[in-house]
Amino acid sequence: MPQTIVIFGASGDLASRKLIPALYLLECKKRTVHPLRVVGVSRTPMTSEQWRNKLGETTKRFTGAAFDRESWEAFAPSVHYFPGDIDRPEMFGGLDAYLRSLEGDDESGRLYYLSTSPALYPIMIRHLGQSGMADPSRGTRRIIIEKPFGSDLKSARRLNQEVHASFDENQVFRIDHYLGKETVNNILVLRFGNTIFEPIWNRNYIDNIQITAHEDVLVGHRATFYEKAGVFRDMFQNHLLQLLTFVTMEPPARFEADAVRDEKVKVLRAIRAMTPEEVVANTLRGQYRSYRDEPGVDPLSRVATYAAMRLMIDNWRWKDVPIYLRSGKGMSCRTTQIVVQFRQAPHSMFERGETSSLFEANRLLIQIQPAEGIQIYFQTKVPDTDMEIRQTQFNFNFRESYQGELPEAYQRLLLDALNGDASLFARNDEVEIAWQIIDPIQRVWDDSDSTDPDCYEINSWGPPSADAWIRRWGHQWFDLCPVLH
Ligand code: BG6
Repeated sequence: MPQTIVIFGASGDLASRKLIPALYLLECKKRTVHPLRVVGVSRTPMTSEQWRNKLGETTKRFTGAAFDRESWEAFAPSVHYFPGDIDRPEMFGGLDAYLRSLEGDDESGRLYYLSTSPALYPIMIRHLGQSGMADPSRGTRRIIIEKPFGSDLKSARRLNQEVHASFDENQVFRIDHYLGKETVNNILVLRFGNTIFEPIWNRNYIDNIQITAHEDVLVGHRATFYEKAGVFRDMFQNHLLQLLTFVTMEPPARFEADAVRDEKVKVLRAIRAMTPEEVVANTLRGQYRSYRDEPGVDPLSRVATYAAMRLMIDNWRWKDVPIYLRSGKGMSCRTTQIVVQFRQAPHSMFERGETSSLFEANRLLIQIQPAEGIQIYFQTKVPDTDMEIRQTQFNFNFRESYQGELPEAYQRLLLDALNGDASLFARNDEVEIAWQIIDPIQRVWDDSDSTDPDCYEINSWGPPSADAWIRRWGHQWFDLCPVLH
């Protein structure tokens, strides 16, 4: 069936940096169903020709060596632009008529992509519903909603209600681009496509898990958004909790949207709730030194640009295994990694000397980005010694084993949404539970009596207090960057 993708917020960054390049590359690989039309909608007055010309430049910039002028010229005619004010209900009637004129008599599927300011989501969704544009009787009608999905549990619930007044849940695709990353999907393959990991993937063998998403960039021009969000809303509620679900959920019976999401919801529900006192003990916040000098930031801002959190999952598999999550901006390097720290061997018949700490026990490291790969740490005998043992590593590197660049997350996610596969998208209950976990933490730190976040230098691994904090729990951060090359 032919498909039309309608991008609301077409003149924004996401469309030119990610969405159009992803659609163009999918077309080059002949992955999309044909014919595919792309219609951009935003307030900026522009013709389709003008938008195409702009996109030609930006797509070249953002696809680099993969750009081919001839393929772009072949793709460009399927890109159209409709100027319109999303606030005005009559715009939707005009847009619908325009889409029909492009679709002709085709039974065409439509995928609406909301990539405007989140404040406009409710009104857009309502207008799509009221204008009949969500009605699937003339072809599939699906909607992708960009993050953030709400800013707390209350607003997420309200947005879900708004969505369900116009769309059925099976038409809705809430995006978290981390779920489109190849290395994140590989977590499922590692766990459920092999036999050797799953039997030891539990409290009997695993001592703790550390999930880190560090970035070297600063807040920059996003200060207005960041002042309202902070790191818990920006990175923990979505990306970090999604990574946690992939690492800790039970095996779904099938790789199907509801089978996968049921398991994710179950494990999120099993995360232990914290009292305000427990929040203070189990979380730690930081702010990089120059944050308050960024344009648009309150000079007394207490917004956290770094945070660490210790969670417990109360189920048979994970009881008493701490899961540490942390993320920061202005870090010494960009790394998203998951460290599964196994327990020490119960008894050693060897002289272990300096190698006796937990840190030297087996460890599995999943490097999500950059230098995507996996490392397994294990002990070996040092040759030509009596019985000296030393920790060594097995390395697996995606780019060495599979030639070529890994595709950007948006390619996979757009293709799945076009095909109606929601396995890698968040369900309504999933986003609400994630907010239910984050809200009480955010509330404690928003309280006027709470302390300021700990200051840290740019180009560090966060506030020095983070090391003392994790040591208090009997653990140590795994700080090594880059892990693989
Ligand atoms: C976004 C956050 O969702 O993810 C940004 O809003 C963050 O603050 C970005 O920089 C990180 O994404 P990635 O894919 O570069 O790790």
